[in-house]
Amino acid sequence: MIRAAIVGLGTWGRNLVSSVQPPSEHLRFVAGATRTPAAAEDFARQHGIRMLASFEAVLADREVDAVVLATPHSMHTAQIIAAARAGKHVFCEKPMGMDVDEAQQAAQACADHGVTLGVGYNWRYQPALQEIRRMIDDGRLGRVLHLEGNFCGPSAYRFPRGHWRHDRSEAPAGGMTGRGVHVVDAMLHLAGPVKRVTAQSVRLAQDFGVDDTTSLLLAFDSGATGMLSTVIATAETWRLQVFGSKGWVAVGDVEHLHTWDLESCFFDPERVTVKQRPVRQRFEPVSTERAELEHFAQQAAARQPMALPGGDAVHNVALFQALLASIDSGLPETVRGPARAA
Ligand SMILES: NC(=O)c1ccc[n+]([C@@H]2O[C@H](COP(=O)([O-])OP(=O)(O)OC[C@H]3O[C@@H](n4cnc5c(N)ncnc54)[C@H](OP(=O)(O)O)[C@@H]3O)[C@@H](O)[C@H]2O)c1
Repeated sequence: MIRAAIVGLGTWGRNLVSSVQPPSEHLRFVAGATRTPAAAEDFARQHGIRMLASFEAVLADREVDAVVLATPHSMHTAQIIAAARAGKHVFCEKPMGMDVDEAQQAAQACADHGVTLGVGYNWRYQPALQEIRRMIDDGRLGRVLHLEGNFCGPSAYRFPRGHWRHDRSEAPAGGMTGRGVHVVDAMLHLAGPVKRVTAQSVRLAQDFGVDDTTSLLLAFDSGATGMLSTVIATAETWRLQVFGSKGWVAVGDVEHLHTWDLESCFFDPERVTVKQRPVRQRFEPVSTERAELEHFAQQAAARQPMALPGGDAVHNVALFQALLASIDSGLPETVRGPARAA
């Protein structure tokens, strides 16, 4: 049983705490810290969380094995490094950082101090995404040729002027830090590293805050191509479609954190002129937040690593920096970062 402290009791921190109710046999939230403790008092009491005065107090607490960070993006890497130095396992919400060198240092600090680092890419715990991965591994999909994804919703309208979510240093490419990074992570999981990105990003709907309409063209190391967009001044929707040399699969447009449908369509090599109908498979509902926290706790208890220096979570930040460069230059930009982890 890993005894965890939640750091940041805003929307997502509370959601993570609630996700392990009914109680998990792998992870229990025993302590917490947040910038405005008074606002979290009732929630903490209901969940048996002992509130501590500061992040530093959490790191000094001997009853805490792991910290779970649900704080603004710009705080993540420094908090990961501080936790690693204090010998605490760390689960950090996405993105891991805003700068690839800092993200790499944070992953390295965890490796050096022998603590487990998890990063909150919960889409990987969706059964439908795991099925796509199996379809690639066992050859059912053929060679991966192209991926298309979007993750959209009315986020730009949810946060008032001055909220950190509208701060360009926290979210410099519109919905990419909030939403797009999940699609990037799913694509990295399914198609491997990206070598080049071309991006555009604009704000069209409101006269303040971050961009609301952002899109990317991706070139993967494997030769596959990709397209990704995030529009955060529209209704909620998301979709990920993977085109293989034997057919395509798609997920999306259902309650994305708990249910995933998988649509697939394969052509008949003996009758390529016949148009096939897609088939739909529904997977059992699952809490991806609980699944990711339990996996993290199991890895931490076994002192096994998760996110590695040069791994996908760091590469995601490298890609992010390249897309920012492309937004500025208007040109395709190479994704530069540390050597890839094996
Ligand atoms: N995996 C997912 O699907 C998913 C979904 C949503 C969010 N997230 C991630 O979760 C993290 C937190 O997001 P959120 O939506 O929970 O944000 P939020 O509701 O604004 O909560 C942010 C938390 O950080 C604390 N904080 C500390 N210093 C702060 C500062 N200088 N400015 C603002 N807040 C500060 C806040 O403290 P007080 O409230 O106590 O003042 C609050 O508890 C982000 O990394 C986000 O990307 C992930």
